[in-house]
Amino acid sequence: MESNSSQESDLPLSRILGIETSCDETAAAVVEDGRNILSNVVASQVELHAQFGGIFPEVASREHIKKIYSIVDQALKDAHLALTDLDGIAVTRGPGLPGALVVGINMAKGLALSSGLPILGVNHLEGHLYSSWLQREEDAPPGYPTFPLLALIVSGGHTELVLMRDHLDYQRLGGTLDDAAGEAFDKVARLLDLGFPGGPAIQAEAEKGNPEAFDFPRAWLGGSRDFSFSGLKTAVLREVRRLEEEGGPLPTADIAASFQEAVVDVLVTKTIDAADEYKAEEILISGGVSANQSLRQTIRSASEVPVHIPPLFLCTDNAAMIAGAGCYRYCAGWRDTLDMDAAPTWPLSEL
Ligand code: KG4
Ligand code: ZN
Repeated sequence: MESNSSQESDLPLSRILGIETSCDETAAAVVEDGRNILSNVVASQVELHAQFGGIFPEVASREHIKKIYSIVDQALKDAHLALTDLDGIAVTRGPGLPGALVVGINMAKGLALSSGLPILGVNHLEGHLYSSWLQREEDAPPGYPTFPLLALIVSGGHTELVLMRDHLDYQRLGGTLDDAAGEAFDKVARLLDLGFPGGPAIQAEAEKGNPEAFDFPRAWLGGSRDFSFSGLKTAVLREVRRLEEEGGPLPTADIAASFQEAVVDVLVTKTIDAADEYKAEEILISGGVSANQSLRQTIRSASEVPVHIPPLFLCTDNAAMIAGAGCYRYCAGWRDTLDMDAAPTWPLSEL
């Protein structure tokens, strides 16, 4: 079911600059009233890290240092605004790579100091949630999600089921006990020699394969709302070793399709179960793995309540989502101080 909820803004006018450097994207954006994207600039480091087959933290920090100034400058230029036209500066405080977070935080502090604007530390996961409230001028309004809603955040570092009864109100229902969903995609892609990042590579390979070719395990974990993907990853590894011993070409498309099917099955079933139990009006899916077409289609056709999934450019890391969440924090009176530290392991439930 598609989203059909309210299209009116529920915030007074506020313009927030967002800065995101928690992982391998250097990003800045300006968002108005938690909804309208006035600019959104993202410099991805993906090609730089592809040669290592994963993210190399020190390389990420140094790349952020080189890019951050010009990315922020571009975001202000694209929005046709000066710092003096803004109400605040939101920056990702965590979770993320410590050395990478510090680059964005220090940039935000410098801007806050020189402009007198307040600084707002935003949780990266909260940013992914607020990507569902955003829109560009050229897009049809997606409608505001309605509360209570059940959110699944699926990214490279997180798999979290969260109940939101209102803005800025998060109840964590469960999360991964081992690998995050995106991490499982990345590891299986490496195993199949499909490159980095693994999510898009597995998705493309899976399109050529049969999702029922291999019966990979699903970790239901009883009635728990937690997730586990390490057993699935090990089952794929064992199957690959067995097939390699047999000789002949590896059926990578069938393995990718069957693996993707197993991940999507668990994510969709657990999300819909939780939405039923908590009588959610709507389901939100966000984070890098929400770009996955199989996940998007399966949950939309399985759910009886509307499912809101951001457009692809807002699924992976960006600063519009940080600015969007920052608008809600700003309007709720939240302010941080210039001695704000990075919070590399900051859980959403602590907010
Ligand atoms: O949200 P994100 O950009 O960064 C984190 O906060 O972690 O998510 C990145 C993750 C990576 O693991 C990547 O493989 C995965 O999202 N991803 C996908 C797809 N596109 C990106 N996973 C499955 N299917 C996709 N199409
Ligand atoms: Zn992310």
